[in-house]
Amino acid sequence: MERGDAIVLIGFMGAGKTTVGRELARLTAWPLYETDVIIEARFGCSTAEIFAAHGEAAFRAAETAALAEMPAGRAIVATGGGVVLRAENREMLTRLGVVIYLEADAVTLFARVANERETRPLLDTADSQTSLSVLLREREPLYRAAADLIVHTSGRRVAEVAQTIFQHVG
Ligand code: S3P
Repeated sequence: MERGDAIVLIGFMGAGKTTVGRELARLTAWPLYETDVIIEARFGCSTAEIFAAHGEAAFRAAETAALAEMPAGRAIVATGGGVVLRAENREMLTRLGVVIYLEADAVTLFARVANERETRPLLDTADSQTSLSVLLREREPLYRAAADLIVHTSGRRVAEVAQTIFQHVG
């Protein structure tokens, strides 16, 4: 399969896709494309509002469309945590470039998203810690299978994680 030049970041909510993506964009001077940002711009409202008003299915359809329309070439692509759920998405990620799984344990992930639950509808539940664990268990194999490189992020600084990726790709 033809592989593109992008660095594609995948991983669970709180894995650091956006923050590491920004640092990588700085290091490479490549543009940063975030699927969540593209989707929110398309709907003209936040992810939480999209889920509430249109449902998760509409969000997922827009997510697939955002990947399909992603410009080819050198770029940092930061995805949403659920992007690996669809096989067609996983194939598009692989075509875009090298796929990096930002991995972290459930305790670390929960600590990172604990204050931002209302912006993440899938964790905006009565027991968000359990919701996180269940989703993580379901998705972990998909992240691993899609990844060219797995980078541990628990207890590591954003700059360190970005450097690891930069050195691997460069
Ligand atoms: C989702 C993760 C979110 C966003 C949406 C769904 C998921 O992105 O795409 O709320 O299914 O894990 P982040 O991973 O950037 O929080």
